[in-house]
Amino acid sequence: MTLLQVRDLHVEFRTRDGVARAVNGVSWSVEAGETLAVLGESGSGKSVTAQAVMGILDVPPGRITGGQVLFEGRDLLTLPDEERRRIRGARMAMIFQDALSALNPVLTVGYQLGEMFRVHQGLSRREAKARAVELMDRVRIPAAKARVDDFPHQFSGGMRQRIMIAMALALEPDLIIADEPTTALDVTVQAQVMELLADLQREFNMGLILITHDLGVVADVADKIAVMYAGRIVETAPVKELYRAPAHPYTKGLLDSIPRLDQKGHQLNAIQGMPPNLLRIPPGCAYNPRCPMARETCRAAEPPLYDVAARRASACHFWKEMCHAG
Ligand SMILES: Nc1ncnc2c1ncn2[C@@H]1O[C@H](COP(=O)(O)OP(=O)(O)OP(=O)(O)O)[C@@H](O)[C@H]1O
Ligand code: SF4
Ligand SMILES: [Mg+2]
Repeated sequence: MTLLQVRDLHVEFRTRDGVARAVNGVSWSVEAGETLAVLGESGSGKSVTAQAVMGILDVPPGRITGGQVLFEGRDLLTLPDEERRRIRGARMAMIFQDALSALNPVLTVGYQLGEMFRVHQGLSRREAKARAVELMDRVRIPAAKARVDDFPHQFSGGMRQRIMIAMALALEPDLIIADEPTTALDVTVQAQVMELLADLQREFNMGLILITHDLGVVADVADKIAVMYAGRIVETAPVKELYRAPAHPYTKGLLDSIPRLDQKGHQLNAIQGMPPNLLRIPPGCAYNPRCPMARETCRAAEPPLYDVAARRASACHFWKEMCHAG
């Protein structure tokens, strides 16, 4: 059975200026042992989707107005609160971008890691601390035994992010959602943390949802990609196929704006214009004001997600042209 399947999810925010449609019919799925990367510019609805899945959406102003979040076939959105909390605590975990604000500054990391075992498994303080050291070893924090009584600020950014990963792994969840887990780190540390996450995911056969705005980060670790724009999925594909031949102009724009080592000095082709205001998403294809291929049809009709090939879909009226151009 599919581990997690999001079906036609809609989330909106009621603000003073009107209703912001942050998520407009998103569907994707992830299997055990699989990594799905969710990609898109700032404001495209990646985090809001994750929050709705995890049950940590700000309600109000947020509101889930439609769809399903099926965890092993059961819709989390209609489960009783108690049951939902149980699944969220033990079977799903989330890793955030900013470890420093997610960790408590006045408690040692050993205490915070151990708390998972004390609260959820009723272990004694001593046992819990021993497990905390094990976890720190597992996420390759050097000298774990000596450092278990240190406070979060005594660790580097990369090491803190490892502690966050350890915290997420503590109860051996079936699914981890990592929201920009490496964005705050410098590039070499980013790669190490990403590699660690990928290794652990394989070892535990977890489903991993990796949210990022950086296509470069996901190439080596993701199995498949869902590209979001203005709260919709505009393209889904296995990662290699998407890189080889994007079937949506927005994906192509993202790919063209990745800095490449072999083209040092070349000008990057950043996507023109700004992401749309979610209070006033353009009619037709939301990408049309920025799209180099836009024409009349694009302003008149919203493209559905067309099947392009097995396991591939694109929400562009002219996906065939895209594929032939590639
Ligand atoms: N608490 C909130 N109140 C009002 N609107 C919100 C709130 N949280 C999110 N939104 C709206 O939802 C949109 C999508 O936000 P989201 O955080 O999902 O973007 P994102 O794709 O994760 O971007 P980023 O890459 O910057 O993290 C925002 O642009 C905003 O309009
Ligand atoms: S539907 Fe039109 S505007 Fe939208 S991505 Fe395709 S060509 Fe561009
Ligand atoms: Mg976000």
